[in-house]
Amino acid sequence: MFHVEHRGEARYTADGSMARIFAITNQKGGVGKTTTAINLAASLAAAEVPTLLVDCDPQCNASSGLGFSPDEERPGLYQGLRREAAAEELLLATAMEGLALLPASRDLVGLNLELVQEPEREFRLRQLLEPVRERFGFVILDCPPALDLLNLNALVAADSLIVPMQCEYFALEGVAQLVKTVQAVQSVWNPALEIEGVLFTQFDERTNLSKQVADNLRQYFGDRVFRTAIPRAVRLAEAPSHGLPALLYDLKSRGTEAYLQLAHEVIERERTRQPSLAPDPAAAAASGAGSGNP
Ligand SMILES: Nc1ncnc2c1ncn2[C@@H]1O[C@H](COP(=O)(O)OP(=O)(O)O)[C@@H](O)[C@H]1O
Ligand SMILES: [Mg+2]
Repeated sequence: MFHVEHRGEARYTADGSMARIFAITNQKGGVGKTTTAINLAASLAAAEVPTLLVDCDPQCNASSGLGFSPDEERPGLYQGLRREAAAEELLLATAMEGLALLPASRDLVGLNLELVQEPEREFRLRQLLEPVRERFGFVILDCPPALDLLNLNALVAADSLIVPMQCEYFALEGVAQLVKTVQAVQSVWNPALEIEGVLFTQFDERTNLSKQVADNLRQYFGDRVFRTAIPRAVRLAEAPSHGLPALLYDLKSRGTEAYLQLAHEVIERERTRQPSLAPDPAAAAASGAGSGNP
């Protein structure tokens, strides 16, 4: 997938193999999907893995959170899914070195209806990303809070799902729905789809409810629950209004640290999956590589 070159400095380069594609999904809104998509993607880039963030939500929060206002005239995912533009033409460089964005625009709302009669409507995103996939180590899809055609496109394009969950009572209700959705997608469109992991967000270990719900989710998902939990952290909520991922806004904050740790966990899992392909990024970073950090 990627390897490190030592020529004075360590860095990852694409080696012609395909990026692993994660959809950040949960049909509930406000659970931390976009916060996770932006900050996981930025943290993977900080670990020197070229990463692409795709904003699949008509609300455009991932785009504006990286400083790209949805009101500007600019081609984005809408044109890509309508086959009016290639992914290549849609990629934007961000303030974070190694992190590219494929932005959304508000007209994505209409796409659900516009594509209904079109051929291969579930495969548009997968096909769009195919030509640029070898350039990246990871592709992160920020999904809308709905089980619509945009979300379906993300689940069909993805290798694996990352499911942010708030440890509150109603989190458990969504689990059955999630598992049903994954099974449906597997049986019809994407047999290889996996659940990479459940991520606890806005986690407060001091409350009994958080602990209790976390225990239940661990019982259900076992070691597919990420060891890293994301704490409630005000810097994570502030950073998007500055158009920056948290690690460019406040490198030393708890939220930043949590997402960096999550990125290492993700990379570590990837290394276990494909031992020959991915050397230890922590070692590469520790060897003094200049990353996108400020
Ligand atoms: N760990 C966190 N700590 C504090 N605020 C958070 C955290 N994660 C998300 N938020 C805030 O909660 C709200 C919803 O998060 P968001 O990532 O947009 O969820 P979703 O994309 O699932 O709708 C946003 O205002 C965001 O800034
Ligand atoms: Mg969102």
